Amino acid sequence: MHAKNDEQRLYKKAKDLIDGKNSAADAGEAIDALKEVINFADWRYYVESDPTFSDFEYDTLFKQLKALEEKNPALVTIDSPTQRVAKGISEKFAPVSHLVPMLSLDNTYNAEDLRDWDKRCHDALSEGTIEYCAEPKYDGASISLVYENDKLVRGATRGDGIMGEEITINVRQMKSIPLSAAFTKYGVAQIEIRGESVIHKNVFEEFNKQRVAEGLAPLANPRNAASGTLRMLDPAEVRKRGLTAILYNISHYTLKDGANMPKELSSHFNSLQWLAQLGFPTPVKEMKVFKSIDEVIAYCHSFEAQRDNLPFEVDGLVIKVNSFELQDKLGMTSHHPRWAVAYKFKARQATSKLRRVEFQVGRTGAVTPVAKIDPVPIGGVTVTSVSLFNEDVVREKDLRIGDTVLVERAGDVIPYIVKPLTELRTGEEEPIKFPTHCPACNQPLERVPDEAAWRCINISCPVQVAERMIHYASKDAMDIRSFGDANVRKFFDLGLLKDIPGIYHLDWDKIRTLEGFGEKSVTNLKQAIENSKTQSLNRLIYGLGIRYVGETTAKTLASAVNHISDLYEKDVEWLCTLEDVGPKVASSVADFFSIPENRHMLQLLEQEGVNMHNHHHGQKETGGELSGKTFLFTGTLSRFKRGDAEAIAEEKGGTILGGVSSKLNYLVVGEDAGSKLEKAKKLGTVTILTEDEFLELVK
Ligand code: IVH
Repeated sequence: MHAKNDEQRLYKKAKDLIDGKNSAADAGEAIDALKEVINFADWRYYVESDPTFSDFEYDTLFKQLKALEEKNPALVTIDSPTQRVAKGISEKFAPVSHLVPMLSLDNTYNAEDLRDWDKRCHDALSEGTIEYCAEPKYDGASISLVYENDKLVRGATRGDGIMGEEITINVRQMKSIPLSAAFTKYGVAQIEIRGESVIHKNVFEEFNKQRVAEGLAPLANPRNAASGTLRMLDPAEVRKRGLTAILYNISHYTLKDGANMPKELSSHFNSLQWLAQLGFPTPVKEMKVFKSIDEVIAYCHSFEAQRDNLPFEVDGLVIKVNSFELQDKLGMTSHHPRWAVAYKFKARQATSKLRRVEFQVGRTGAVTPVAKIDPVPIGGVTVTSVSLFNEDVVREKDLRIGDTVLVERAGDVIPYIVKPLTELRTGEEEPIKFPTHCPACNQPLERVPDEAAWRCINISCPVQVAERMIHYASKDAMDIRSFGDANVRKFFDLGLLKDIPGIYHLDWDKIRTLEGFGEKSVTNLKQAIENSKTQSLNRLIYGLGIRYVGETTAKTLASAVNHISDLYEKDVEWLCTLEDVGPKVASSVADFFSIPENRHMLQLLEQEGVNMHNHHHGQKETGGELSGKTFLFTGTLSRFKRGDAEAIAEEKGGTILGGVSSKLNYLVVGEDAGSKLEKAKKLGTVTILTEDEFLELVK
């Protein structure tokens, strides 16, 4: 379907339809044409991550299809792109039996294991050369898809391998999965395809940031996020989380009467190439064929070194005998196929002893339990401290002092304790006792009913004060270089710094007498502090460390006012009218600005010369090509990190807004853009750009 010339044909066809040129003889033909081009657009966007149509164009096509289908309900088919509906909540998922058991894989961990497996294959087959295919082992949750007469009829989880759960409705939310594919053209009547549902690492990180900000424990790894999402009862939520899948195995198929087996089904490599051609997301770009196990081993080593470069978490490679005929000859055990083996990358897990738990007070007063463990190397770093997040996590895992614990550090994800190894308990382990009073200021702690954290509510608690200053100076806030954790704490402990305004009148003569503060570092620090005075208002607001106000909300707030004092009188109701500001955020903001001490602090900062104005409000500095233009990024960006994209726009003179309003010029949309996109379209004055179009603009 997607040979170059076919892509050109589909592209042209789509453009014609967008322009209202429709050569169809009747509604049925018109509907078919629209379905074909929308599927093509989805494929470019979700499978190839290389969109060809703007959102506006896509929506035009989609609306045309919807309108035609509404007029001709009899022509609506189950595989229409309009039928990926996410309405209603599933009660629970029905059990289904797999067409063939969903087996697991045998694991290997080193070259020797691989050679043993290679030898077993050779012994069983007496072939001269055996071709092996190697592809990534994705760390997600396995799924099974069944197509009958070209239509997706069922999606299921693995379950126990024999019985799974029917999750067709959730699978239909993954736009990377075709609702129909031309199998019958190849004589295939029914086919079961297996693969892994996965979540982008960056989506996962965003998701966890959100959870932590809400006082919840982050999910341990993208795998947990994927398997949890797959089984969510609300399909709309599945769509929102941007779950996708990679298909890596044809487990079963039946041919139409009289049909011959197509040559595409002669080997693993060919079959995946074929699936890719039919529009499925597959590992073909990362897949390689080798003629000897030595080549496979070399590939395993080189691939392992690059495991973090893929957008999905990968925990190994899967090596498969390429020829289906040889696969059949090798057969399977009750647990795993003999023709495939997983080569697992070095575990980012290790065991250690939990020695004690420290309770750290954060900037917002939340008291976080942190496990101190015997130093243990995991994935190239030595881990000694592991956050336990909150009391609920500790209770749920039933952790005790003295436990041997399993610690994991997946990719860039922070280390966490998977579980205690209860079988190794001696009976001398002790329960973890939670403090009733703040470890820093000894005030009684409180637990807000719907929150997991215990909090110290003393706003002058010294640790909170220090943490707030560290946050104020941090990179994403006022970005005062060389004024990191260590220096702030040092000055604070020495009494040289008491509060945020104090940053601007440090006693430099005293500081010069400190060890490590030569003339050069003093000059640098002074300069960095001076520079922070001209930071944008959104950075200042973010730097204040108001609860629930992250960078995005800070931008929203900044762009809504001319001067920070404009926020003093705003009530919850007004704040709730801002993009993405809900009652919880709004009341936190209103509380902050109603406290006289906070206003006083801002007054002192202004006297020190810190910028309190939203300069982008009207009087924008000129110079950049995009000077005066306003931007907002939404959805999951695949080309770059949001922060980097914003930096590019700002570098060119653009301004980042916090929400969609009539002031917005450009909305750049990534995957799964939601309410902002809707709002921008409604306004009609906003130019909507794909990531590519944005790059084109700033080039
Ligand atoms: S093939 C009959 N290929 O790993 C063989 N599995 O640890 C079926 N997995 O249950 C598996 N990436 O969920 C295969 N490229 C890949 C894979 C893969 C991830 C998962 C799969 C399997 C598990 C076994």
